[in-house]
Amino acid sequence: MGWASPPLHSATILWMYFVLPVFAELQRVQHQPKHDGTLNFLVVGDWGRKGKYNQSLVATQMGKMGDILDLDFVVSTGDNFYKSGIKGLNDPNFVQSFSNIYTAKSLRKQWYSVLGNHDYRGNALAQLSPILRRIDRRWFCQRSFILNAGVADFFFIDTTPFINKYFNTSSRHYDWRGVLPREKYIKNLLKDLEEALVKSSARWKIVVGHHAIRSIGHHGDSVELINHLVPLLKANNVDMYINGHDHCLQHISSINSPLLYLTSGGGSKAWRGDVKESDSDVKFFYDGQGFMSVQITETETKFAFYNAFGDRIHHSRVTKSTMHPVS
Ligand SMILES: *[C@@H]1O[C@H](CO)[C@@H](O)[C@H](O)[C@H]1NC(C)=O
Ligand SMILES: *[C@@H]1O[C@H](CO)[C@@H](O)[C@H](O)[C@H]1NC(C)=O
Repeated sequence: MGWASPPLHSATILWMYFVLPVFAELQRVQHQPKHDGTLNFLVVGDWGRKGKYNQSLVATQMGKMGDILDLDFVVSTGDNFYKSGIKGLNDPNFVQSFSNIYTAKSLRKQWYSVLGNHDYRGNALAQLSPILRRIDRRWFCQRSFILNAGVADFFFIDTTPFINKYFNTSSRHYDWRGVLPREKYIKNLLKDLEEALVKSSARWKIVVGHHAIRSIGHHGDSVELINHLVPLLKANNVDMYINGHDHCLQHISSINSPLLYLTSGGGSKAWRGDVKESDSDVKFFYDGQGFMSVQITETETKFAFYNAFGDRIHHSRVTKSTMHPVS
């Protein structure tokens, strides 16, 4: 008996587990809900700028709101680190833009994050590495994964590989390790997502991705996601799609379905000023910095948007009638 190679360190095994691209199923993460089953979380996107562009102001207000809401976790919709993700596991930008900014006690919860297009401009694999959790144990970022959190199931989806233009601009480098061949990656992801959505019996289904499906902000709608994702989301009664990418806050309703499109991409640089004309059913749009809160119970989901001063600038809710399970 003898090892052909030295036994792998457990961190190396973990690392391989996280980066190997082929899975039979999307990775599942369990988040133990509070005793009463309710779920409260904040959503922030497009933030990592070492505190600049009001990132610190937004972080302070998130901390205050986190205190009031007794958060279960925080969701990051991607573009975690500007301008080009992180360079590697030792890039000081991780601490300067994350650990040193979101310092409030109430934000010392698990952060569930996806990658944005700017993260793909750096070392995308580094952000996915569990080794970062030794620096800040709140950090959890995967390309796509399922979060089971009791009353709600969350489906975090890697949207950057869907967007055609990133594969067309030769001038910019993207870290596509683990993504190519692209067609296969997208096909597998859609298949895995569909399976997971069909299997889910949670009261609420929430899909999170970096790119907007519907947006009147700078980047506008993502045609690729309208074509690939919307049919799946509607067929499986997804309640809301939450994204960043456009540096604004918005609440858009679907015309013929209950599916909501919520943008929380105001974590730092904002005020782009170019709002698009659209036939979308726009309930709320704010071009500045801020974040979103979500509170979920069996029968109701409330969400609200806050600006950099912590003022609640929009809120809404969705209700579901109570089910009476046969006992
Ligand atoms: C910071 O926020 C304030 C209030 O919304 C805004 O007036 C100011 O322009 C923002 N600064 C930057 C750099 O975006
Ligand atoms: C590149 O752009 C062209 C024209 O906009 C488009 O037809 C083509 O599908 C794009 N290629 C990729 C790989 O997305």
